[in-house]
Amino acid sequence: MKLKQILQNIFSVKNQDFHKVITFLGFKIKFKNTTKIEQNINQLIQKEQLLNQKITQLTNEKESFMTWNYNPLGWCDDKLKYALQDMDNVRLTTLELVLREMKRNNVTDGAIAEIGVFQGDFASKIGEFLPDNKFYLFDTFDGFNNQDTQFDKENNYSEIDNDFTNTTEEMVLSKITNPQRCIIKKGYFPDTAAGLEEKFIFVSIDPDLYKPAIAALEYFYPRLVEGGYIFLHDFNHSQYRGIKKALYEFMESNKIKYIPIPDISGTVVIAK
Ligand SMILES: C[S@@+](CC[C@H](N)C(=O)[O-])C[C@H]1O[C@@H](n2cnc3c(N)ncnc32)[C@H](O)[C@@H]1O
Repeated sequence: MKLKQILQNIFSVKNQDFHKVITFLGFKIKFKNTTKIEQNINQLIQKEQLLNQKITQLTNEKESFMTWNYNPLGWCDDKLKYALQDMDNVRLTTLELVLREMKRNNVTDGAIAEIGVFQGDFASKIGEFLPDNKFYLFDTFDGFNNQDTQFDKENNYSEIDNDFTNTTEEMVLSKITNPQRCIIKKGYFPDTAAGLEEKFIFVSIDPDLYKPAIAALEYFYPRLVEGGYIFLHDFNHSQYRGIKKALYEFMESNKIKYIPIPDISGTVVIAK
C-alpha cells in the first residue's frame, strides 16, 4: 500500500483534501521539532545558569581563602615570611600554629629541646616563639656517629654520608633568643640525656638516623607533658628511611597519635 493510501485510510479524507492533511502533518512535525529545540535551548540555559552559579560560588570561596591568608606555601600572617628567608615555610608555619595552640591551652611550664641542632636554624625559630623556657640543645657538634650511619647502611635505611661538622656551640647560641637559658648537650645522644630530670612541653627530633631517632622517641615521649608536642623531622625523607621505621616501631608499644605534614622531608607532629 502506498503512503498516500495509508494516510487517506487513517484520516478518511478525499483525494482533493489530501494536501490539507499533508499541510497539517507538516505543521505538526514542524511544531514538534520547534518544541524539542526550545526544550534543548531551555536545558542549555539552565545548565549555563548552574555553571555560572558554580563559578560564582568557587570564586567566592577562593576569595574567602585569599582573605584568610590562604597560601600554597603554608599558612602565615606574612605570606612569604619564611619562603623569602629560604626556609621551609610549611615546617615553620606549622611550628608557629602548634606553639600558639600550646599557649592558648596554657601549656607553658616545662623545658624544650632539639635533638640534632646542626647550625641552629630550626632551634632559633623554636627559641623565638618560646623565649623563656629552658632550652636543651643536643648534638655531637661533630656530625653523625659512625655506628649510627653504619647501622642505617646495613639495614638499607640510608646510603648518604652528610657532613654536619660545620658548626659550633657559639654559632648556635648566637642565633637563639635569650641564649643564657640554653643548655648545650654536646656528644652522643642518648648518652648525653643521662641523669636529666625534666618535663618537656616541646621537642624537635631531627638526627636523620634510625638509632638516635628511636632513642629520642623512647626518651622524650614519656617525659612530654599533656598538651605538649613532638616534631619528628624526615619522616618522609626518601634518603633517611630509618626515621619512618623508628616511628612505626615506637608505635608498636606506644599508643600515639600523629599527623604527617607536607613540609620538605615530611615532619610528623605527635601530640600528647
Ligand atoms: C639535619 S641536622 C639538624 C638540622 C637542624 N635540626 C635544623 O633543622 O636546622 C642533623 C644533626 O643531628 C646530629 N646528630 C645525628 N645523630 C646524633 C647523635 N646520635 N647524637 C647527637 N647528635 C646527632 C648531627 O650532628 C647533625 O648536626
